[in-house]
Amino acid sequence: MNISLAGEVILVTGASRGIGAEIAKTLGLAGATVAGTATTDEGANRITEIFKKENISGRGYRLDVSKVEECTAVLSEVEKTHGAISILINNAGITRDNLLMRMKEDEWDDIMDTNLKSVYRLSKLVCRGMMKARSGKIINLTSVVGFMGNAGQSNYAAAKAGIVGFSKSLARELGGRNINVNCVAPGFIDTEMTQGLAEEQKKTLINQVPLGRLGEVSDIANAVLFLASNLSRYITGSTIHVNGGMLME
Ligand SMILES: NC(=O)c1ccc[n+]([C@@H]2O[C@H](COP(=O)([O-])OP(=O)(O)OC[C@H]3O[C@@H](n4cnc5c(N)ncnc54)[C@H](OP(=O)(O)O)[C@@H]3O)[C@@H](O)[C@H]2O)c1
Repeated sequence: MNISLAGEVILVTGASRGIGAEIAKTLGLAGATVAGTATTDEGANRITEIFKKENISGRGYRLDVSKVEECTAVLSEVEKTHGAISILINNAGITRDNLLMRMKEDEWDDIMDTNLKSVYRLSKLVCRGMMKARSGKIINLTSVVGFMGNAGQSNYAAAKAGIVGFSKSLARELGGRNINVNCVAPGFIDTEMTQGLAEEQKKTLINQVPLGRLGEVSDIANAVLFLASNLSRYITGSTIHVNGGMLME
């Protein structure tokens, strides 16, 4: 069965690399108009180029999700150019790993701002249009680490677990308006975020994965495609775990 997202206007944050780039491409190839964001103009231009090459409707935008004025401005530009956003994918995320005893205030705050507060901020901004339309979908990228913890990532795990609680609450607030709010929780996926891990660390990680490999970006994009489509219309407040069996929920 072919999934069609024709007519949807989708904002994907952090679409310049890794998981976000694959999500943007997958949803675009399914027929949606996609606004994909990067933190730099070069990154935004690269997204536009890729979309052109792939015949995807939409383009790249520069956005730092930790800056409220930029979020407001980009959302209004996207809506002026492409129409009201019908699906929001909160994918942008960073890591600032450290053991708690050494963790600085700014390492905690950067993670909260970029990974958690941005989800509150962008969801709030798109919500009004979705409520008016009486339809919409918000899909948030959390992490296996938000469910099982990881030494050296107390800031990241707290933000990712926070996204889950936030999404469940919002799903309850918006269900009556036919708006679905769900999460996708990747395990360890082969992107720049994990390429920094030492070979030894990677081996240890893979040993914990029943399917015996790191995930690929397409494994995550396919779960997002399902949540973005009407096939998932009766699912809200849920998390799809895509982790090769590393954590069975
Ligand atoms: N990779 C994994 O194993 C894994 C596992 C679990 C969860 N996740 C989650 O999945 C999401 C994507 O991860 P990834 O591995 O694809 O990451 P990645 O390869 O490091 O890419 C991060 C993306 O986020 C963007 N970004 C960073 N800071 C931003 C900011 N302040 N404002 C807006 N955009 C910003 C980056 O833009 P620039 O290119 O402009 O820097 C880039 O597009 C994240 O939420 C991550 O926490 C990943």
